[in-house]
Amino acid sequence: MTKAIFFCLALAFSFGNVFGQTAIPKIIEKDGHHALLVDGKPFLMLGGQAHNSSAWPGMMPKVWQAVKLMHANTLEVPIYWEQIEGQRGKFDFSIVDTLLTQARQHKVRLVLLWFATWKNGSNHYMPEWMKLEAAKYPNITGKNAQPIDSPSPHIKATLDADINAFSAVMRYLKKADSQHTVIMMQVENEAGSWGSVRDYSAMAQKLFEEPVPAELLRPDVLKALNVTAGVEGTWAKVFGDRADEYFQAWSIGRFVGQVAAAGKKEYPLPMYVNVALRDPLTNPSANHYESGGPTDNVIPIWKAAAPAIDLLAPDIYLSGSERILKVIELYDRADNALFVPEAALSPDKARYLYDVIAHGGIGFSPFGIDDNGSGATETELKEELAPFAQDYEVLLPMMPEMAKWAFEGKVKAAVEREDHADQTIDLGAWQAVVSFGTRKGGDNFQNNAPTGKMMIVQLGENQFILIGSLCHITFHPLGKNAGKAWQFLKADEGSYHNGTFKPLRILNGDETDWGGPAFGKKTTIVKVSLTSR
Ligand code: DGJ
Repeated sequence: MTKAIFFCLALAFSFGNVFGQTAIPKIIEKDGHHALLVDGKPFLMLGGQAHNSSAWPGMMPKVWQAVKLMHANTLEVPIYWEQIEGQRGKFDFSIVDTLLTQARQHKVRLVLLWFATWKNGSNHYMPEWMKLEAAKYPNITGKNAQPIDSPSPHIKATLDADINAFSAVMRYLKKADSQHTVIMMQVENEAGSWGSVRDYSAMAQKLFEEPVPAELLRPDVLKALNVTAGVEGTWAKVFGDRADEYFQAWSIGRFVGQVAAAGKKEYPLPMYVNVALRDPLTNPSANHYESGGPTDNVIPIWKAAAPAIDLLAPDIYLSGSERILKVIELYDRADNALFVPEAALSPDKARYLYDVIAHGGIGFSPFGIDDNGSGATETELKEELAPFAQDYEVLLPMMPEMAKWAFEGKVKAAVEREDHADQTIDLGAWQAVVSFGTRKGGDNFQNNAPTGKMMIVQLGENQFILIGSLCHITFHPLGKNAGKAWQFLKADEGSYHNGTFKPLRILNGDETDWGGPAFGKKTTIVKVSLTSR
């Protein structure tokens, strides 16, 4: 190979683009940090999810309007089994085509949500021809033989049908999307069951009385489930009072894992499962939440059952910062990239984007961004989306940098809690103290609701990028300089444009004299360098 050819190839690979073919999106891990590579580079999904019934051509203009108002770079949007395979074995990908074409026009990436055997625990997106053959594609049966509105994970006919349809989707995408507009697939939607912890039909009962499969008896899995190694036998014997739920989690995990594996065989995009969470603080019994989905207590079961699933992704509808921060901690694992595919579209959820990034997360997305046919005006929609849009607007022009910093573990965050208390962040040679609320001169005004947030990117020992709103920040030298006086060498307020920081003004005088810069309602970027003397 001549030097010139080698150089061209190296250049093409380094941009993730080989002869017009971009590299397939994938998730990588290094030292416990993750990145979603899109076109070969770390990508942070600043996402928004459409309402459930919005992925129809007549509804999409309002979805794109919301995407634009949000400054999102990724749209999560469902594709429906009932529409794609309206007739058994006959596939219609016209809506997939519409989504691909329009996403490209809007320069937005897509995450497609496969609404199929499970949607929020039920089978409502199965095609009509399946619903009409209920005996062939049955639901589960409750403990008292009552009918439960949730498909059985034990039925081969259902599994085969889902595999067949999802494989067709992935085969089609491989052909239709060489430019990788679609960057990830969600397999099913909030799989699990409400109303019964598991299937108690005679057939399921027989399986339940069989020995626990070897994959779950591995010492690492048992340890993660707090079960003593060496126990063998039936589900009840090994897992005691959690046996019903674990059996359901394993059964659904196996089913969904096989659907994902079949899809990946056609076209190996990253794939994830979204989770209807349980309270992560109180270890409730499975009657209190959707049983069998990858709730925090059964993550090890899902990992063993569904290796083709790249990650388990929490949908954040819980409230309370302690609870939410716990969820973020539980789903950020070396074997699980953190991704929040749904968060309630309420102002109190917006600040957790900062925590997700600080945990090296690959994306965040509030649910239900479009007007859902309600006729909301652009002004109304803008107002509703504003708590999220104001951060996306600032982060979008610096997304590649932020994704790289998050992957490198250079980002820290403090989000306001209900007690409004100050928070400290250690930054090596410095400690940052973040206080919440607005400030005028030396007076502090507490925020009405806990919505303040601060993200700190460490660029060097004494240099940081601060991004935040409704808070203020001060610093103290640590280590060999502890106790010394300090000051800003410089504090530049500015914004990013295509990855380059453009200063607007130098903050000094009243803007930094009260300990450090104050961040108002609007998300603001300040680049600071510090010195001690
Ligand atoms: C969570 C589900 O995953 C979404 O599809 C949607 O149903 C929301 N809940 C509704 O709040």
